[in-house]
Amino acid sequence: MIYRARPLILFLIFLPLLATAAELKPPAAGIASAHPLATRAGHEILARGGNAFDAAVAIAATLAVVEPYGSGLGGGGFWLLHRARDGFETMVDARERAPMAATRDMYLDESGRPVAGLSLNGPLAAAIPGLPAALAHVAEKYGRLPLTQSLAPAIRLARKGFAVTARYRKLAERRMDVLNAHPAAARVFLDNGFVPDPGFIVRQPDLARTLVRLAKKGRAGFYAGVTARRLVEGVRAAGGIWSLKDLADYRIVERTPVHGRHKNIRVTSAALPSSGGTVLTQMLNILEGFDLNKLDRVQRAQVIIEAMRLAYRDRARYLGDPDFVSVDTQRLLSHDYAVRLRRALRTRVKLDAPRRQTETRGTGTNTTHFSVIDREGNRVAVTLSINYAFGSGFMPPGTGVLLNNEMDDFVIKPGVPNVYGLVGAEANAIAPGKRPLSSMTPTFLETDDAVVVLGTPGGSRIITMVLLAALEFANNRGDAASWVALPRFHHQYLPDRVEYEPDAFSKPEVRALEGLGYKLVLRKNGYGNMQAVVWYKTGNRVAAASDPRGEGLALVR
Ligand code: GLY
Repeated sequence: MIYRARPLILFLIFLPLLATAAELKPPAAGIASAHPLATRAGHEILARGGNAFDAAVAIAATLAVVEPYGSGLGGGGFWLLHRARDGFETMVDARERAPMAATRDMYLDESGRPVAGLSLNGPLAAAIPGLPAALAHVAEKYGRLPLTQSLAPAIRLARKGFAVTARYRKLAERRMDVLNAHPAAARVFLDNGFVPDPGFIVRQPDLARTLVRLAKKGRAGFYAGVTARRLVEGVRAAGGIWSLKDLADYRIVERTPVHGRHKNIRVTSAALPSSGGTVLTQMLNILEGFDLNKLDRVQRAQVIIEAMRLAYRDRARYLGDPDFVSVDTQRLLSHDYAVRLRRALRTRVKLDAPRRQTETRGTGTNTTHFSVIDREGNRVAVTLSINYAFGSGFMPPGTGVLLNNEMDDFVIKPGVPNVYGLVGAEANAIAPGKRPLSSMTPTFLETDDAVVVLGTPGGSRIITMVLLAALEFANNRGDAASWVALPRFHHQYLPDRVEYEPDAFSKPEVRALEGLGYKLVLRKNGYGNMQAVVWYKTGNRVAAASDPRGEGLALVR
């Protein structure tokens, strides 16, 4: 009798506590994004009665206007969503797809050599965009407001214009030749062919009209009708291979995110065709076997570098679009496999001889990320891209849509690195309708006490930036400001070297790592632009931080 009564009594005693925990809601909403205008647009939509998903639609569309070098309607990305009401989590895969006329060797010349720039510049570099479909899908399925409302801030800014910043100028300088090669883009983003002065107002009336069509008609406003016709005509007139059917057939895919566990934290991150969540979880699994706080700084760096190297080796060998290739993610993410990798770790595993050691050009400033938690506890982590700065530099006339150069994320030839120096294999070869492998890593980290939403741009280095923030959270707790500011280092298997920011290692540490056989390359300007929001349940507090390397804004209201 007593044995039966006890659970009931305990249940009754703890019921109020359980109810309180279940009902606990964040006291404020937090948004961190790479541009103040986008953060404010998100809060504007929350203030109008939208939820985190509506805010995310507004932020993504606004970034498409005010950060034209990082993302846009001509690009795609990955949306990690958590719905508070039922705990449902999903990843909206809005990755671009290769057009159906794409072929495996489309960037090679007759003798099989890559044609310089062909996968990076101009319309042939562009895959079919996914962002417009994601905006419509997220608003309709998860939001509360119509697109006409959530896209309003972006439409307003496209019409009225925004002021050029230092970051804009730096990236426009880098891509000036490519923009000048494409008059519609040059007219919008340059000032008579030159980098605009700080404060110059960039107005985008064509983009405003395209956004209005999307707002009024949903996905059909982009993938059919006048927008689709102009996109395809513009692409084909300039030598590209898009068709109206490519646009009509584009679909976002909802996929189950990657779930992992590291010490006391639960990790939710991007699934294939982004390698982000898989590589992140593999690295965390390998590092699970170490008490990093007990190692000295050089030993600690070494095990982390080795974990990076091994996980990126698997990225290069096995990962690709799961709708086209079979990837044994269960094995890659298993703890048994991590144990096997860990055994070899400290002895510096003999890796394949590097086939090519080209310089990477991706600098960690392209692409974009934003994080949102609303007052209901809904959360959103979104990483968006048009790939390299200002994408392909090509804008089909009359659309205002700058196209991506995401085709370069495919393996254009085995062993030939992409713009980030990443190599790959058959799994990531080009095929019609296939999605190129990505590194975007929108991520949730959770303990019983805290919920963290974060991510960053930065090409191949995205995943290791998120790793370092996750390790900081797991081992030292830290706070949003410390995760985004953390000095960074990176290894991606090939090229076989460690890139590091000035404050990541002291001079003696650099020498010690070199003594262990590593080649170290200083990235003196730093890289990445992390955006983090955290909800601490103890003390019920929301905080947010925007990477000090960028121009973003984190705002809790
Ligand atoms: N375009 C960069 C990435 O998707 O990883």
